Amino acid sequence: MKQKLVILTGSGISAESGLKTFRDAGGLWENYPVMDVASIEGWYRNPQVVLRFYNERRQQLGTAEPNEAHKGLVKLESRYEVRIVTQNVDNLHERAGSSQVLHLHGELTKACSSRDKFHVTDIGLNAIEWGDKAADGSQLRPFIVWFGEAVPAMEEAIEWVSQADILVVIGTSLNVYPAAGLLNDAPNNCRIYLIDPNEVPVQRRGVHIIRKKAVEGVKELIELLLN
Ligand code: APR
Repeated sequence: MKQKLVILTGSGISAESGLKTFRDAGGLWENYPVMDVASIEGWYRNPQVVLRFYNERRQQLGTAEPNEAHKGLVKLESRYEVRIVTQNVDNLHERAGSSQVLHLHGELTKACSSRDKFHVTDIGLNAIEWGDKAADGSQLRPFIVWFGEAVPAMEEAIEWVSQADILVVIGTSLNVYPAAGLLNDAPNNCRIYLIDPNEVPVQRRGVHIIRKKAVEGVKELIELLLN
């Protein structure tokens, strides 16, 4: 029986693939008013601005490749039952070959009905324009969990973390709930590692900090977990 290894990732793991994080210097929220482009109110107020924001990010995704950190996590599957809970909406974990990936905040390569978020279609890297319709005739929208919306995958994420033997947190400032609260759902005897080049305040004691960027940090993690 393989030990259960759950990995919570944020935008920092995709930084070395050239995708921007949110709250770092030069991050997305420095250049965009987050509530205009990533909230349900922003969608109601000016949907074209929201569509353009995600069309730009989907276009950038087309130029990004999984980096050695994404690929390193796949190597851990030889020894552990690896499950990835990601806040990221890119598909770099899947393209690196990870077999179990749960997206808490949606996926850039999918769209849904603006009437029923569970009517989802794959759009790859295509743009969504105002006037594009879902099957139910409503305006097509990005399959993204915006601020002000529920996080349907949270229940499953809590289930995964509450059974983890090891939890690894990579590239997230732990600013956004409920995702950030997952650390509290790890069992008391769960080993916790955190990979980030910057300081990330965590309430939990006994967290093994690897103060590095994701590519170097995952290399060190593999040394610790595979050798
Ligand atoms: N390697 C690892 N971590 C990195 C790197 C790197 N090369 N570069 C930056 N980081 C770290 C930063 O130090 C920071 O802790 O990644 C983290 C990025 O934090 P945020 O920009 O807040 O991104 P994230 O935590 O993923 O945001 C969570 O907020 O706006 C919402 O929905 C959005 O999913 C997103 C959520």
